[in-house]
Amino acid sequence: MVINSTVIEGLRKEYGEAFYLLDSDQFRTNFLELKEAFSSIYPKFNIAYSYKTNYTPKFCKIVNELGGYAEVVSEMEMELALRCGVEHSRIIWNGPIKDKERMSEFLLAGGTVNIDSVSEAEYIKELARATDKVLSVGIRCNYDVADGVVSRFGFDVDGEDFKKVLEIVTTTPNLHFINFQCHFAKRQIEYWPARAKGMVELLDRVGVIPERVDIGGGLFGKMADSLKAQFTSEIPDYKEYAEAAATVFADYFKGKDNAPELIIEPGSAVVGDCMKFVGTVKTIKNVRGKYFASVLGSQKNISMTGINPPMEVVHMSAGEEYEEVDLVGFTCIEGDVLYNNYTGELAVGDAIVISNCGSYSLVMKPPFILPNFPVLDICGEVVEVIKRAETFDDIFHTFNY
Ligand SMILES: Cc1ncc(COP(=O)(O)O)c(C=O)c1O
Repeated sequence: MVINSTVIEGLRKEYGEAFYLLDSDQFRTNFLELKEAFSSIYPKFNIAYSYKTNYTPKFCKIVNELGGYAEVVSEMEMELALRCGVEHSRIIWNGPIKDKERMSEFLLAGGTVNIDSVSEAEYIKELARATDKVLSVGIRCNYDVADGVVSRFGFDVDGEDFKKVLEIVTTTPNLHFINFQCHFAKRQIEYWPARAKGMVELLDRVGVIPERVDIGGGLFGKMADSLKAQFTSEIPDYKEYAEAAATVFADYFKGKDNAPELIIEPGSAVVGDCMKFVGTVKTIKNVRGKYFASVLGSQKNISMTGINPPMEVVHMSAGEEYEEVDLVGFTCIEGDVLYNNYTGELAVGDAIVISNCGSYSLVMKPPFILPNFPVLDICGEVVEVIKRAETFDDIFHTFNY
């Protein structure tokens, strides 16, 4: 995706001075590369894309087209998967709270629900008793991976609740126990062997091998070196994650014919580098010796705090040289800084192009101060409008005046 002043000028004419650029080609590449990294070690492998990270329908449809699962955590996301044409059997519903009615419909239609509480298990047990359909359920598991976190998700695999739920899912007629699942948020590589070993130990101990074992998301994605340098830990690549986790499964199931499908639930790892945000410098001023450039765009658009994101300034006219300019957003928050201490040429009208905006950005953008900007895909021959610019009415039509 080449983004130069000519491209920006053309896009501005049609779509305004701020927009996201979605890179669908990169998304496909990431999905296939990540899949290959794990499959080359443990062939029975698949990806369940974490919708919450970036639920842009175009991404969700690509995952479906490439044979991945949809990992959803709410009725809203489940509905989105269906509207993207994903079959129930390809949707995995995690999440701590599920609406009973929607969950029942979903189970009866063939979707997988990963149980996260005893009350949910008991409700599903009653549902199974009242139907002659087979319902697919999994259990969310929780164990120590030495990451210093006591996660609130899933069941402590050494606890009584876990035993109770395992008993329900393995003995209730019409319940098909389809998978164990876990998710740990910390992305550092050292926690990956632990999560895989924890699962394998669990399978060994309970003596039940479900069809699938899902070891969750929490992987770093590809990023520019300037961004990598701002993390205190190493940023592993796909192969390193695969070696850390898939090898554990390959070793354990070597020569056994009951090997489950191994699943991971990446969001950031596949979508992080698939969106850029383009904003425009609107004013430059000096306040008590400090330069500020106000940008049409906000930290809320990129959801990156405490770091300088990978950024390129595309000059649209001749500018002046500045030192340590803070590029600040359109909101009224003091801390709305897109980039700290930029040094170089800058002019009003310049475009700032921020990369690595794909994860937890668009989905977490509040309607704060301004409606959101459009999302465009410029990978093909023509510009595809993925999401039009939000309008006043998009934000305010739910209020009563
Ligand atoms: C259950 C589950 N799976 C997958 C993910 C995706 O995580 P990431 O985007 O860090 O890969 C999350 C994120 O919170 C999650 O809660």
